[in-house]
Amino acid sequence: MLHEWLKYIASARRDNASLLFYLHSLNNDVATEPILDIDIDDDLKPKEKKRFVLLSSALFLVLFHSCNTGTQTESQASENEISKTMQEGFEIVTQNCVSCHSPNATQEARLAPPLLAVKKHYSEKHDTEEAFVGAMRSFLTKPTAESSEMPNAVEKFGLMPNLGYTKEQLSAVAAYIYNTDLEKPGWNKEYSNKDKQNTLGSEEDYLKEGQRLAMATKSVLGKNLLSSIQHKGPEGALVFCNERAIPLTDSMAQELEASIKRVSDKNRNPGNLANEEELAYIKKAKLALTNTGSIEPHISEKGDRMIGYYPILTNAMCLKCHGSTESDIDLNTLSAINARYPNDNATGYKSNELRGIWVIEMKK
Ligand code: HEC
Ligand code: HEC
Repeated sequence: MLHEWLKYIASARRDNASLLFYLHSLNNDVATEPILDIDIDDDLKPKEKKRFVLLSSALFLVLFHSCNTGTQTESQASENEISKTMQEGFEIVTQNCVSCHSPNATQEARLAPPLLAVKKHYSEKHDTEEAFVGAMRSFLTKPTAESSEMPNAVEKFGLMPNLGYTKEQLSAVAAYIYNTDLEKPGWNKEYSNKDKQNTLGSEEDYLKEGQRLAMATKSVLGKNLLSSIQHKGPEGALVFCNERAIPLTDSMAQELEASIKRVSDKNRNPGNLANEEELAYIKKAKLALTNTGSIEPHISEKGDRMIGYYPILTNAMCLKCHGSTESDIDLNTLSAINARYPNDNATGYKSNELRGIWVIEMKK
């Protein structure tokens, strides 16, 4: 899993504090779930099924044009199969591959070769779809330096982590990459636009979309922190955490056509103080947590925007930086925090308390 890879990198640097900073951004979870849940969209499946009808019919035309399959009914049946595969591949690739295999990351921010470069590499060696898919799936099932077809990339970036997908998912991913023109501008946008126009109608849709955005942002924050540990060492990662967290959140937000922030009633970063409406939600949420043991997210309408609130709870790990200054936070960490955040309010927490909320604004 990804976090095992990250743990490995952090332990190679033997620096606990940077690992903690890194883990922190991964763990600002809507609920306190495992560190990096790849299947963040599990609960969105029905909606996705709907939106794929459109995408898949478009893909179809492209695919079947060049492909002379037998009778009408046969091609109809495989049509469904192929569109299902493409649907699944699209989803995984745009949400969970391009974050590292970004087409336009700067040299410095780059974590892995662009997806197009990976595709070209595999296409050169494997000239049929079957061979291409087989080779890529085989690597991704269990990445090792020995099975790599891009040893220079392994040397430069370190081995790709095992993301824990099933064989079927990886076949879909590889088939999608094989059949998609990654050089065509907007290949990764089409789907999300369709999604917006065609399926985000009810408050429930926005509530879930907001949750997805919060999770996506969480993984981007984690990824970038990792990158700064890789490129600049632990010291750099601390600075990154201090200075870059907010602008990065925003750039992700731009891509998703939404704005995303993390706020608290007891904030560490002065820019993260909750406003009046957010404070009102936080107050109610704390009450609900005490009385019922859980917190419901909230969605509201404001002009042409929908605004979602999603709780961020603490677990034992958070206390190392947000717990008691006497018993939980060690002296080195405390002095590093105090140096960067002289007006810090974000200590004194126990486990399973409301540390803050994600605020996701989406255009209707
Ligand atoms: C956390 C970052 C990260 C994510 C997420 C990621 N990759 Fe990678 N990937 C890498 C790195 C780093 C390399 C280069 C080193 C290597 O080849 O192992 C790489 C290399 C590859 C390679 C070339 C393997 C080889 O060496 O022959 C393929 C194929 C690949 N990735 C596909 C994918 C696909 C498909 C996804 C999404 C399911 C994905 N990657 C998600 C980091 C990532
Ligand atoms: C290694 C120290 C560290 C750990 C561990 C840590 N945090 Fe933080 N946290 C910080 C720092 C530093 C900031 C300020 C970041 C910034 O400048 O935006 C912060 C900010 C936040 C914020 C934004 C609001 C604010 O106060 O500025 C939330 C929410 C938050 N942390 C939640 C958590 C949760 C939940 C956990 C555990 C899952 C956790 N943190 C673990 C160091 C840590």
